[in-house]
Amino acid sequence: MPRIAYVNGRYVNHGEAGVHIEDRGYQFADGVYEVCEVRHGVIVDLTRHLDRLDRSLSEIRIKPPMARAALVQVIREVLRRNRVRNGLFYLQVTRGAARRDHVFPAADTPATLVVTAKSTNPEIIVAKNTNGIKAITLPDNRWERVDVKTVGLLPNVLARQQAKEAGAQEAIYIDRDGMVTEGAATNVWIVDKEGLLVTRPADPGILRGITRTTLMDVADKIGVPIVERRFSREEMLDAREVFVTAATSICFPVVEIDGHTVANGHPGEVSRSIRQAFFDIAEKTAI
Ligand code: PDD
Repeated sequence: MPRIAYVNGRYVNHGEAGVHIEDRGYQFADGVYEVCEVRHGVIVDLTRHLDRLDRSLSEIRIKPPMARAALVQVIREVLRRNRVRNGLFYLQVTRGAARRDHVFPAADTPATLVVTAKSTNPEIIVAKNTNGIKAITLPDNRWERVDVKTVGLLPNVLARQQAKEAGAQEAIYIDRDGMVTEGAATNVWIVDKEGLLVTRPADPGILRGITRTTLMDVADKIGVPIVERRFSREEMLDAREVFVTAATSICFPVVEIDGHTVANGHPGEVSRSIRQAFFDIAEKTAI
């Protein structure tokens, strides 16, 4: 079955899909994106993802390419055409194609909208949940507006690659004060010495992850107390549990950081119970 992508009003074969070489996403990383999970044939947390997309667009002053109802229809159609039951869709909006110039193009330049979808192998996720993952820490060398989900991900790409070359699956950023910000593509959580679930406040130092927000609902429902406060690299290394969250992975336990074993080296109970309850509590939208 051929993969199908949506590009500016057309459904095209994935292999032939393309945007203009002067697209501002390509030239300047002048665009924003969303990644949303599909599980058991439903879209998870769609409203929150599209709300964040609206916010990202407005923060960098791009007009939404179409009304939300139409966008949802495009997303559904891409998922249907690719027969995705477990996987994700990826959505990118850029400031459009125009002769290269740093300032914004003419106001009537249409935004570029691309939607793709792919199936993922649930067994890989189960293996990571069962065994946990390894992480490294790195100085946070990104720009200050990481609260906007832009396609400008070069520091994140280099960080993930460095993690991979160190035999790890995630890189965790540390700010100038020695405090954890977030992962290269995840938010970071610890269970502290008091048994409290701790994550950094969503100030401009991190992306306000949708999984992070829904996980707070989940923790509330299953009675796990949460505190939003900063925590240091040292506190993380010494925590009872460490885990990272993102739309496509929900909640991966971290069992080793910079070669140091976290707790007893096995995934913890809090991440397990949260993961189990997550799907029931998250918003589900039919394809
Ligand atoms: N990344 N922080 C960063 C820097 C991220 O890139 C992501 C997600 C998150 C978690 O956000 P959410 O829970 O909304 O997925 C936090 C996506 C999955 C990606 O870039 O592929």
